[in-house]
Amino acid sequence: MAGPALTPPGAAWWRGGAIYQVYPRSFADGNGDGIGDLPGAADRLEHVARLGADAVWLAPINPSGGVDGGYDVTDYLDVDPVYGGLPGFERFRDRAHELGLGVILDWVPNHTSDRHPWFVEARASRDSARRDWYVFADGRGDGPPNNWSSRFAGPAWVPDEATGQWYLASFYPQQPDLNWSNPEVRAAMADTLRVWVDRGVDGFRIDVVHRLAKDPLLRDNREAAADPPAGYGRNPGWYTTLHLRDENGPEVHGYLREMRAAVGPGTLLLGEVWILDLREVVRYLSPGELDLAFNFPFALSPWNPGPMAEVIELTEELFGAGWPAWHLSNHDMARAGTRFGPRTVRAAAVLLLTLRGTPVLYMGEEIGMLDGVVPPERALDPVGRDGSRTPMQWDASPNAGFAPPGAEPWLPVAAGYRDRNVAEQEGDPDSVLALYRRLLDARRRHPALSTGTFRMLEAPAGTLAYERAGPGERFVVALNFTEDRREVPLAAGTVEVASSVSLEGRELEGVVALPPHGAVVVRGGH
Ligand code: NOJ
Ligand code: CA
Repeated sequence: MAGPALTPPGAAWWRGGAIYQVYPRSFADGNGDGIGDLPGAADRLEHVARLGADAVWLAPINPSGGVDGGYDVTDYLDVDPVYGGLPGFERFRDRAHELGLGVILDWVPNHTSDRHPWFVEARASRDSARRDWYVFADGRGDGPPNNWSSRFAGPAWVPDEATGQWYLASFYPQQPDLNWSNPEVRAAMADTLRVWVDRGVDGFRIDVVHRLAKDPLLRDNREAAADPPAGYGRNPGWYTTLHLRDENGPEVHGYLREMRAAVGPGTLLLGEVWILDLREVVRYLSPGELDLAFNFPFALSPWNPGPMAEVIELTEELFGAGWPAWHLSNHDMARAGTRFGPRTVRAAAVLLLTLRGTPVLYMGEEIGMLDGVVPPERALDPVGRDGSRTPMQWDASPNAGFAPPGAEPWLPVAAGYRDRNVAEQEGDPDSVLALYRRLLDARRRHPALSTGTFRMLEAPAGTLAYERAGPGERFVVALNFTEDRREVPLAAGTVEVASSVSLEGRELEGVVALPPHGAVVVRGGH
């Protein structure tokens, strides 16, 4: 099928919709080897459908070198046997479509694994027919060809002893960058998109898409004094250069149009445009390019109404008639509940699901999951992202229902899962899960909350308030970011959804009293 069943064919279903990210290794283990897989995930999809999401984004399922959680692909056309191979994918796809959920695959075009046959061939000799599929260059003196830094550690160049050159690897050394200025590479990668479209996927999340176009002359980045953003420090060198030459080259927009041509107009293209200047990000949404781009300035904002309002208003201003996407958590960063504190998860849910744009939820966010503390002897990701990748917490049984009780999960289940899990929250009308369901349901029933207009309102210190309006409907959302009660003035209205269910249905006259960290969606309102 061409898209989720709930949406008329050809319509942009993702506009009013919500996307749910599944990290396949940690969602559901169907065969008891301790690793999540696609048959296991298929059996848990009903949870996603009941939640009210419209599509599932699967982090990479291709066979990989196993160095970067699947982002080091060895075969773009196959599915890792550990996830159930192609039959596992088909089962997942069919179940998703049966439930009206779109399937979005992660596509990793910037780099392959160093074990990908293309790279094995490229590095074999300077004369290899595939040499120019990657970025090989001579060093400068004894050092690398230029001053580019990798995202994770040290320089972005890896010495290739056998051929006496260096190859570019913008992430781990085992992830050589493909040379996108080579039309053969672009044609081969476009073919991989077509194969998956033919196999029935509804969209792609495109990994680090802003990295595809680099300076063909490999000139240095400019040095700049920069403080790494708090809690996000990895490779200091990456932060102390301005990325003028190693990403976001003007050619990227042509590459995007080629991708669009390969997949056609009906396939969602959601880009991981990891650029902190939203003026640049919005250019990726030009006609014939991406449909959606992640908003990292929003995701990295502190939980504070000042900076939040600033990034939301800037997004509104720049995206204009375009369509933003919003997320607060993913497999690369500490979960929002961990960054901002567990008491904020309800207000964060209200915020994420009432902005103008497509929200992207990370599995477990709907139960207020927190990062696991992974002991050093179980740590797997060298740059420390294991905490947000611990297994999904389904119930209070050993292994949290992620894997059968006797299995050893690939990462330990986070402590606290006995109190924070899907089964526990199912039965509680005032749970975080119930709140997510009510919010997603309200978006469906009231287009003003999904596709309506947005206007920021004046609000007292420590709070945020905004209006969402559509034909014949108007809502005001008010959020309290503080530990204290806060009163937000507003016109008469009825509480449609609130952080605690007991506030819902209340008639308000001129003011809403928000409990600490409380949030309300008020119908009427202003
Ligand atoms: C972004 C992905 O989300 C992250 O997990 C990965 O390490 C890098 N891109 C490199 O592919
Ligand atoms: Ca398994």
